[in-house]
Amino acid sequence: MKEEYSPPVVTASQRASWEAVAPSIWRLNGSLTSERVTPSLLRTLFDQPRWLSAYLLYDDKGSQLFERICELPEYYLTRTEEGILRCAAADIIAAAPVECIVELGAGSAKKTVHLLREQMRQRARGIFAPVDVSLPAMAASRDALGRELPGLSFCGLQARFEDGIAAICESLPTLFLFLGSTVGNLTRFEYMRFFELVGGAMGAGDFFLLGVDCVKETELLERAYDDSAGVTADFILNVFAHINRLAGSNFDRAAMRYWSCYNERAQQVEMYAFARRAHEVRFPGGPTLFWQESDPILVEISRKFDPIRLEQQLQFFGLKPLGRFSDPRGWFSLLLFKKA
Ligand code: TRP
Repeated sequence: MKEEYSPPVVTASQRASWEAVAPSIWRLNGSLTSERVTPSLLRTLFDQPRWLSAYLLYDDKGSQLFERICELPEYYLTRTEEGILRCAAADIIAAAPVECIVELGAGSAKKTVHLLREQMRQRARGIFAPVDVSLPAMAASRDALGRELPGLSFCGLQARFEDGIAAICESLPTLFLFLGSTVGNLTRFEYMRFFELVGGAMGAGDFFLLGVDCVKETELLERAYDDSAGVTADFILNVFAHINRLAGSNFDRAAMRYWSCYNERAQQVEMYAFARRAHEVRFPGGPTLFWQESDPILVEISRKFDPIRLEQQLQFFGLKPLGRFSDPRGWFSLLLFKKA
């Protein structure tokens, strides 16, 4: 792998703002620091009801726990999406003649390899630019891909999606990937802002592939987000250890419990932390959080989608639907779009 001094997929004017943090991986200067993150997490923790932004779940431990969720028998999403990708990768890559594949929230990028293999088979060259807040997950995907696809260039951006999207060079024909139904973890406000950003950042030669989990039976959904081994509970409650490190607070794992449900009206799984008994959580130099038993913290949502409605909606963000790929049971969908 050739070493570059600045990230090759980033717009020239922004390159100086990205610092190398590991071979072929860069981070936006000063982003993801506790001074930046703490004020915004306090805003949502003191909202009514209290809630947290999803990216906080992915510290090193959280990213590891998430990898375990993907293998759980109850958690059908990853397996189902991977099956669709395996079958559809050749068609997707043929339909999207690009040089660069940008994956937002890539994690370990295990499923993405189906698309990257096809890119190399059909075009014999390509750049893979994952955007993720977790450095170890990104470094693992860099190493695994370097072994399997040595001709592929790797350019990792350790950042939140919005910073990643805004940085990508516009003249490079790019396929943006947002897999794993991660779009369903955005709040409605973040969701609208996300598609505005993506629609705005895409040029005429760009494509967008979105993986979404579909609306289905409540029981199946509830089991997927509350597994019998308790891995999901650990993943969700681990956010408080991360917050303690960032903000110096003293959330106590033993004093809280996990509870989730599928809210049919809102078409979303809701994942909460409840206080086992009323107690105080302190933030140095800041307010004390009086955590009552009746005062849940909404740590994560996972929205479920009707793929046809979603295709209609995304047209209003300047995205034109090109193809829809699903599993035989219709549990999960991959939607391919082009800039309209
Ligand atoms: N985006 C996936 C989903 O919504 C993965 C995920 C995000 C997840 N947060 C989660 C899975 C919390 C279980 C629990 O399903």
